[in-house]
Amino acid sequence: MADSQDLLQQIKAFDESKAGVKGIIDDGITKIPSMFIRPPDDTVAKDIPSSGRTTDPYGGSIPVVDLADVAEKPAKVIQDVRQAAESVGFFHVVNHGIPNRVLEEMVEGARVFHELPREVKANYYSRDPMKKVKFLSGSYKLSQATWRDSLFCDMAPEPLDPQELPEVCRDITMEYSDQIHKVGVTLFELLSQALGLKFDHLTRLDCAKERLITSHYYPPCPEPERTIGTVEHTDGTFITILLQDHIGGLQVLVENKWIDVLPLRGALIVNIGDLLQIISNDKFKSVIHRVLSKKEGPRISVGCFFGNILLQNSSSKYEPIEELISKKLPAFTEQSL
Ligand code: OGA
Ligand code: NI
Repeated sequence: MADSQDLLQQIKAFDESKAGVKGIIDDGITKIPSMFIRPPDDTVAKDIPSSGRTTDPYGGSIPVVDLADVAEKPAKVIQDVRQAAESVGFFHVVNHGIPNRVLEEMVEGARVFHELPREVKANYYSRDPMKKVKFLSGSYKLSQATWRDSLFCDMAPEPLDPQELPEVCRDITMEYSDQIHKVGVTLFELLSQALGLKFDHLTRLDCAKERLITSHYYPPCPEPERTIGTVEHTDGTFITILLQDHIGGLQVLVENKWIDVLPLRGALIVNIGDLLQIISNDKFKSVIHRVLSKKEGPRISVGCFFGNILLQNSSSKYEPIEELISKKLPAFTEQSL
């Protein structure tokens, strides 16, 4: 295995190529470069339980919340949201109001962008924090390479000039962004009520104000068990709404076991982020998740982050909502995360 100095050099050269993981695949390889190899203690296979049943309440999958009932049976929907947000921290939503056409075009727009010639994509490759639209590979940090390319689009609070978006996904990104904002507001209203607060409590705290849309492209991998698409992490958001295609690979850690978030056509995946865990005084859980690499692909997913994950230390600005603090439930602090 290469030493760490050598690895940093490799990652630096890879970053400077501005071609992403897709560029490596296009060069035609059968073995992955060493910078993508996870250290032995960290191998993906080790974490996967070989046997044993999980005792999670949802039987090894994530709950589904049906928004069709919001008008007729709000109490039931709020109860479903509460249960999911308190336990797994992840749920599917169906009947959210975004037509399948929009979901499919968004996935397709992301794919077309990532399959543009490398010279075109290189124009968007940047680590400049001021740039609102940027293409990056792996994680947005320079310390490790992962089997993933991403396009970040900072949509709000300042409205993004559509001309900054790549033309091949411009219109659909604008349309998806508007529609996902509406779903986000509905979810924050449900989550507020699930906390026993007025429906507009979270939106009044500006939880739905910042919106970053990230189109991920996970190329097929010749040695998927030696690397990973997205490393284990929690999201530094209030909530994240994720759209995934039919390939799969996303996993959530529930009671120390990885469970698959299987693709569900037409559904969106919602997960609680660190900021909502803090302001909910630890009632709602921001749960660890990751994405495995696969031989099949590409896999495409589009995340919408409410609360900007690229802002450093944003969680230090937040504290539990006063109404949620009591003698029995003292204020939750960031150190407990
Ligand atoms: C993320 C994330 C999951 C996926 O971007 O934070 O967890 O399926 N993505 O791409
Ligand atoms: Ni995530």
